[in-house]
Order: sequence, then structure tokens, then C-alpha cells
Amino acid sequence: MSTVFLNGDYMPIEEAKISPLDRGFLFGDGIYEVIPSYFGKMVGFQAHIDRMNDGLKAIGIELNWDDSQWLALCDKLSSSNGGGPLGLYLHVSRGTDTKRFHAFPTNVSPTVFAMAFEIPVPKTPCLDTVGNGYALTSTEDLRWKRCHIKSTSLLGNVLHFQEGFDAGSQETLLFNSKNELTEASASNIFIVKDGIIATPIQDNQILPGVTRRLIIDILTKDGTLTVQERIVTLDEVRAADEIWITSSSKEIAPVTKLDGVAVGTGKVGEIWLKASTLYTENKFSY
Ligand code: PDD
Repeated sequence: MSTVFLNGDYMPIEEAKISPLDRGFLFGDGIYEVIPSYFGKMVGFQAHIDRMNDGLKAIGIELNWDDSQWLALCDKLSSSNGGGPLGLYLHVSRGTDTKRFHAFPTNVSPTVFAMAFEIPVPKTPCLDTVGNGYALTSTEDLRWKRCHIKSTSLLGNVLHFQEGFDAGSQETLLFNSKNELTEASASNIFIVKDGIIATPIQDNQILPGVTRRLIIDILTKDGTLTVQERIVTLDEVRAADEIWITSSSKEIAPVTKLDGVAVGTGKVGEIWLKASTLYTENKFSY
């Protein structure tokens, strides 16, 4: 049984109840985060909380929580859910109104909900044990123009994920109307060509992924690999030697097939191994 947090109290998930007039339920009017935690140690806690605060500010939800309150919540959530490898899910909606009306209600308190779910324990990066890599499907990005906000309104992402899923893929790679890479339905994307790593610039077309930021930071500090933030075209993606998808729960996952075609040699690449090894060695310092 999992223990969750709802508006100040911890309880078994079966006991957590919200009103159907909650703006999160009616409008997807809220912000969420997923923080990876491995046996009580989180990766990128501060960056996740900062991104959530940016999101709350962007949509005008006032919640006067400080970082130490989020830290205490995350610690308690982890320990009360077995303390293993967990995704800590934090969710703040605008709150419960008295009617369904689009305008922001006044005098409502945000709903704060948090739960934990199991995530895989990351393996030591190794070309012999990594397996086959992900297969992706590509499609035009039809979501909204505020993808930098980690909103709970995820229907656009869900529909894109489902497209790939129905086609037998594990993620859906997205490109804009100019045939430029944006991201994937629940991950950021990196490509590698001739040893150079590139990822789309951080703008309103993508989520500012914490894993993405940590990878760029770790690789830049290390200095042995070159990583560029720039426009990446779909043609470049198709011609890449390697493609990676990144997220808090997947870390850096290699992609070996795109739309049924092998990526590079069709095998997981050496640059993935180097980048993943550096990420594994350094992630807990964030
Ligand atoms: N997804 N882009 C999108 C659209 C995402 O939903 C996510 C994460 C990412 C990667 O962000 P990060 O590295 O901060 O996890 C990029 C989460 C985990 C989810 O919705 O479950």
C-alpha cells in the first residue's frame, strides 16, 4: 500500500480524496514534478523545486512553501514508501472552486498532492548489458506553445505517447512545423554525430528537463565531449550516429531505432557509454 500526501496529511492512497470541482481535475490547472530518489538520495532536488516554482509563478498559483518544506515532504514520502528507487511525484493545482468557471477563483488554497512510485534502479552503464535500446516513432509536435511549463494538462503529451505506443514504440520523437526537433512526449532528446553531441535549445517548445541540464553541466565540466545547444533538424536526427532520450526516471537511454530504421550502426554507441558513465558518477552532486 502506498502512502501519499494530500493537503497537509499523510494517508494510504485509497483514502486520498479530492473534490470534482478541483481545478486540477476540471481543467488540468496545475503544475507537477517528478524527482528521482535512490535509497533516500535525490537527484537534482533543488533544480526540480526551482522548476516547479517557475511553473507556479508562470500560471499565477501562489503557494507559500519554502524549499525545506518540500525537502521534508520528499524525505517522508521516500521513507514511508520503502525508501527504494522511487519517483517522487509532486502536484499543485489551483485549488477547489465552488463552480466550474474558467477565470482564476479568488480565495482558494492550492491543492498539494504527492505520491511515490517505483522506478528502475539504474544499471552501471555497459555496452554488453545495456540491451537493445529504445525504438521511437516520430511525428509532428501538435502540443501547445507553452511546453516549458510542466503543466498537469498532459493530454497533448499523452496523445503523442499513445501514437508511438500503438505503433509498437516506447517513445514518440517530436518535430515542429519547420522540421526541427523539439523533444519527445515525456523526455528530452540528444543526438550525436561524428562525436559531437547536440540538443535543442531551451525555449517554449520543450520542457527544461532537469536531466538534460545535468547532462550538459556534467559533460561541459568534464570537457572531454563537446555538447551543443542549438537547432537540430529532423534530417540531422535521421542521419545521427546516436540518439538518446533523457528523463528523471530513464536517465540517459539509448535509442537504436527510429521509425523502424536503425540509428547509426543500430547498436548502442560509445558516446552514450561515456556520457552515461559520467552522469552516473556525478548525478548525486546535484
Ligand atoms: N517527464 N520533456 C517532457 C515533455 C517530459 O514530460 C519530461 C519528463 C522531460 C524530461 O524532464 P526531466 O529530465 O526533468 O525528468 C522532458 C516526466 C518524468 C513525467 O512526466 O513523468
